[in-house]
Amino acid sequence: MTSGVTKSKEVRALEWTNKRLRLLDQTLLPTRVQYTELEHWPEVVTAIRSMQVRGAPALGVAGAYAVVLAAQELKDLPLDEFREKLQAAASSIAEARPTAVNLAWAVSCTMSAASSAASAAETIKLLLTEAQTIEREDIEANHSIGEHGALLLPQDATVMTHCNAGALATAGYGTALGVIRTAWAQGKLKGVIATETRPLLQGARLTTWELTQDGIPTTLIVDSAAASVLRSGKVSAIVVGADRIAANGDVANKIGTYGLAVLAKAHNVPFYVAAPMSTVDLATATGDQIVVEERASEEVSSPQGVQAAPDEVGIYNPAFDVTPAEYVSAIITERGAFTSPYNESLTSGAQNRG
Ligand code: MRU
Repeated sequence: MTSGVTKSKEVRALEWTNKRLRLLDQTLLPTRVQYTELEHWPEVVTAIRSMQVRGAPALGVAGAYAVVLAAQELKDLPLDEFREKLQAAASSIAEARPTAVNLAWAVSCTMSAASSAASAAETIKLLLTEAQTIEREDIEANHSIGEHGALLLPQDATVMTHCNAGALATAGYGTALGVIRTAWAQGKLKGVIATETRPLLQGARLTTWELTQDGIPTTLIVDSAAASVLRSGKVSAIVVGADRIAANGDVANKIGTYGLAVLAKAHNVPFYVAAPMSTVDLATATGDQIVVEERASEEVSSPQGVQAAPDEVGIYNPAFDVTPAEYVSAIITERGAFTSPYNESLTSGAQNRG
């Protein structure tokens, strides 16, 4: 383990090194920058569930490398048993968190890439190549998302964002924060308003950490200040990420996103979703079919480990909500910005896959 101050331009939520997965432990940010090296695939499942690594595209990359770790661990078994146990591990990894489609997608891509392998050694090689491809292509996609998204913003834009859809949530650069970074580099951005994002404070702990290190003027607000800030007329656009986008354009993202989308419509502020095509799930027809993860009640009753509610109270803690497509002004992907009707635009965007 190492620690120290890291510039966000260099921030990597995760990297493959020395046959291990190295993760920046996001539960400790912003006060501690600490990496952990994982050698066994169940450790990655634990890291995903405990949010040491989080954010849809980063979960995909972590899942892909977890499959490589599983293959490394199982390689000495007879080939039939190796294949069977690897498939079981892949299923467990894909199910570690249910809402972000990138996780199951990346595990499935990785397993498919190695399906014709004739030995454990060949399997490991093919799995690793695929995981590295997923990682590299995610960074490339984020830069393209940044370019397409920045085009939609006016000069001197103030952008509101929710949760963390940055370098920390991806293989690098970020989706919503990719749009913000590109607009900043182009001299188009005045500043960012980040919502704190209860209960786990990804906005307060992670987004502000990333953006302030890049020197991007950032103002943190509590979630409940969003309505009056939008009413003030100072916000040019809201840009958020996504965990799963259904074929009809309904968007699952961090809890609170739906409320912001409704507020955006009420105040005539464009509401943009920035996500790679790997987050678009054409097999899911509408948002009603998306499984929304419910997390432990302690995240709400004892935020940051400090008790804030009586023991007896009932708690409901959905980690995500689904924003109906009618509230989404555009879905910004690496293949361009798609608009309604999303069934048509997303399907044709997916067909144009290079
Ligand atoms: O629970 P989290 O922190 O994994 O939720 C993350 C989000 O909701 C992000 O907005 C989404 O995954 C997009 S990340 C580019």
